Amino acid sequence: MSDAYDVVVIGAGPGGYVAAIRAAQLGMKTACVEARETLGGTCLNIGCIPSKAMLHASQMFAEAGGEMAHLGIKMSPKLDLKQMMAHKSETVEANVKGIEFLFKKNKVDWIRGWAKLAGGGKVEIAGGKDKGKTVEAKHVIIAAGSESTPIPNVEVDEKQIVTSTGALELGKVPKHLVVIGGGVIGLEMGSVWQRLGAKVTVVEYLDRILPTMDGEVSKQFLRILKKQGMEFKLKSKVTGAEKTKSGVKLSVEPAAGGDAEEIQADVVLVAVGRRPFTQGLGLEEAGVETDKRGFIQVDAGYRTNVEGVYAVGDCAPGPMLAHKAEDEGALCAEMIAGQKPHLNYDAIPNIVYTEPEVASIGKTEEDLKEAGIEYVAGKFPFSANGRARAMLATEGFVKILADKKTDRVLGAHIIGREAGGMIHEIALAIEFGASAEDVARTCHGHPTLNEAVREAALAVDGRPIHI
Ligand code: NAI
Repeated sequence: MSDAYDVVVIGAGPGGYVAAIRAAQLGMKTACVEARETLGGTCLNIGCIPSKAMLHASQMFAEAGGEMAHLGIKMSPKLDLKQMMAHKSETVEANVKGIEFLFKKNKVDWIRGWAKLAGGGKVEIAGGKDKGKTVEAKHVIIAAGSESTPIPNVEVDEKQIVTSTGALELGKVPKHLVVIGGGVIGLEMGSVWQRLGAKVTVVEYLDRILPTMDGEVSKQFLRILKKQGMEFKLKSKVTGAEKTKSGVKLSVEPAAGGDAEEIQADVVLVAVGRRPFTQGLGLEEAGVETDKRGFIQVDAGYRTNVEGVYAVGDCAPGPMLAHKAEDEGALCAEMIAGQKPHLNYDAIPNIVYTEPEVASIGKTEEDLKEAGIEYVAGKFPFSANGRARAMLATEGFVKILADKKTDRVLGAHIIGREAGGMIHEIALAIEFGASAEDVARTCHGHPTLNEAVREAALAVDGRPIHI
């Protein structure tokens, strides 16, 4: 006999656990299948949460040994990497236990194992603790997430050649960390280890870092990271990695072809993107359509081509971001319950948690130019913000892009301390269809970093006060 559910969610990452909780809140009998020992998926276990623990701790270390002296706090910090890792593990544990609590509170059954679509509204547990079990589901939501994309001739062992997973577990600070890929993971994890004392070299295929971000932001951020001591080899590709006793010997070539050079590294981080993780789900047998890159194809209601099967988060198209997955999970459950919610894909923040942070929302200047939309850019530097000066956080700027005719806010791009918090002011503006003038006329507390957002909005109309 098999258990019967209204909703069975596959995967307990941000997409899956939120879908399960929301479905249960809406009165549907819900189970979530997850094979990992703990709930929370990549984000809570080996992604967003542990990396933020390490980013915070390493930043504190760097400040203690650096700019704090300027604030009149003199000290010579000593690194206790084991304790730093313990802090990271405690953070992860509290978070994953939290999801377990929420599942109990909402009466979501956790089925432990690897789910496989068995057709006819059935899900089979093909591996893991509950192997052999079959459950019936009126609706199946696939939220199976993503995995690190490999590159040819660079074999990951999670010790010397690592993905973000291994980069969060290094037993000692590498002398030389080479990062392949100048995207979010590369720059965040590169920052962590550089602050703790590693020399960091980033090898990036394109001529810029953070290729999907606004071009001006990406240029200035490159300058800031170089000033911090990070080294870059742009327009370059790694063609091979050979493990030696003393580390890893990398062959690096110009992206356009040419002579190879050798780089010696202690540790190599592969961070060239992620791909949908859908192995073993039985998608092909069940007839669920995927695209060439493996993303499960869905319509606006997260429905796949197979009746009763849905997909959300990293394994479905769109930006691979935990908050995008969470929102899709909630919306999918609500749609199954007959509601008609809506997610504005133009108002999804994108944040890089380096120091300074980089945050972006909506259209970039490049997007607008390509679409032939006339716009006005209003910019304000943190060097002219009083609070930023007091905090020694004068690097970076806020840029707001508004429609030339209507003044409607179309995008915003911020480099600066706490940029990731500030961007939400613009998220609301975009969500509510606000104009730059609306943002400018909103009273902002003084002294705050957010005043720079208001000044950028004023600059759209050519009338900033403080510059
Ligand atoms: P990414 O897509 O952000 O960056 C990958 C970079 O690698 C790109 O700049 C690309 O041009 C470069 N690249 C690709 N192939 C290459 C090659 N063979 N040699 C050298 N460079 C190469 O991917 P990343 O950093 O691995 O992150 C994966 C996903 O995880 C992203 O979608 C990201 O949004 C998400 N993520 C988000 C975080 C956040 O929101 N703070 C944190 C960590 C990950």
